[in-house]
Amino acid sequence: MEQMMRNFFLFLAKNKAVTKMAKKYGLRFGAARFVAGAELDGAVQVIQNLNHLGFKVTIDHLGEFVDSEAEAKEMANSCIEAVKAIAEYDLDSQLSLKLTSMGMDISDELVLNNMRRILTIANDMGVFITIDMEDSARCGHSIDLFTELKKEFDNIGTVIQAYLYRSDEDLDYLDPLAPNLRLVKGAYKEPDSVAYPNKEDVDENYKALIKKHLLNGHYTAIATHDDAIIDYTKELVQQYNIPNNQFEFQMLYGIRTERQKEIVQEGYKMRVYVPYGSDWYGYFMRRLAERPANVSFVLKGVLKK
Ligand code: FDA
Repeated sequence: MEQMMRNFFLFLAKNKAVTKMAKKYGLRFGAARFVAGAELDGAVQVIQNLNHLGFKVTIDHLGEFVDSEAEAKEMANSCIEAVKAIAEYDLDSQLSLKLTSMGMDISDELVLNNMRRILTIANDMGVFITIDMEDSARCGHSIDLFTELKKEFDNIGTVIQAYLYRSDEDLDYLDPLAPNLRLVKGAYKEPDSVAYPNKEDVDENYKALIKKHLLNGHYTAIATHDDAIIDYTKELVQQYNIPNNQFEFQMLYGIRTERQKEIVQEGYKMRVYVPYGSDWYGYFMRRLAERPANVSFVLKGVLKK
């Protein structure tokens, strides 16, 4: 049943007709729990509040799969606007983005130009950029683009997904670049031919990747809501004397808020991923797919209106 729900929401995430309708009816239907508004102003306020509570942030201007060069440039402009807001309001925030929204499916020249524009301004303003990882079909290409940009910029990192068989080799491949990486389980629907179908195997691979990257001496963001993985990391850093400034925990805005606070109180770095923008629908559907229990929360929100 859970798998059926998951597939259903992942199908809806890609459905253009439903996307159009959802955008029209706005964030009223429960998405506001996970998305910091449709506009940058709203996101700035959310980040100020989170910073005040001791959280670091990575802001994400929502968007993926653009159809034209103009749209990709527009997306890049929105990222630049967000970087400028981080500097202007002195926010403790990085920026996350998706390469498909920068024109990755259109041409390498387009995506690299857009990325260089963002990274140059972000570098001047001291803002770090993380390239989110998308579906497995784009993983190799994303890693190639990251590698290319990492030669030119220091303020860039990317994501490795524990559910993919290839991730251990990717970590070895990236190792000489001493990359700052976010490690996650993986959020897309992937076939057994490329990804571990069983949760236990994903979790074991996740732990192995965390251990490898930390012991290689590189900065590691452990982005999960899973207490077993968080506890594993805490034990590991203690066992190997890994300093607090070599790793951080990350969670998504609106998910396990109390746990996020506890982690800050325990003295660890906790970064909250704060998405905003009118293109919130695909992101929202992936959150519902991850945890169908969130549906009841959303329904309660709708019924209360
Ligand atoms: P999992 O889903 O296995 O959940 C483990 C446990 O966490 C649950 O059993 C429950 O106890 C608790 N939990 C989870 N959700 C909860 C909720 N809503 N309420 C209460 N408890 C809950 N993916 C990707 O493919 N590319 C990317 O670039 C990113 N980026 C990214 C950034 C950040 C900051 C995060 C936190 C996550 C991502 N992800 C991602 C998503 C990631 O791949 C994954 O899909 C989700 O984090 C869910 O997996 P968990 O590791 O949280 O564990």
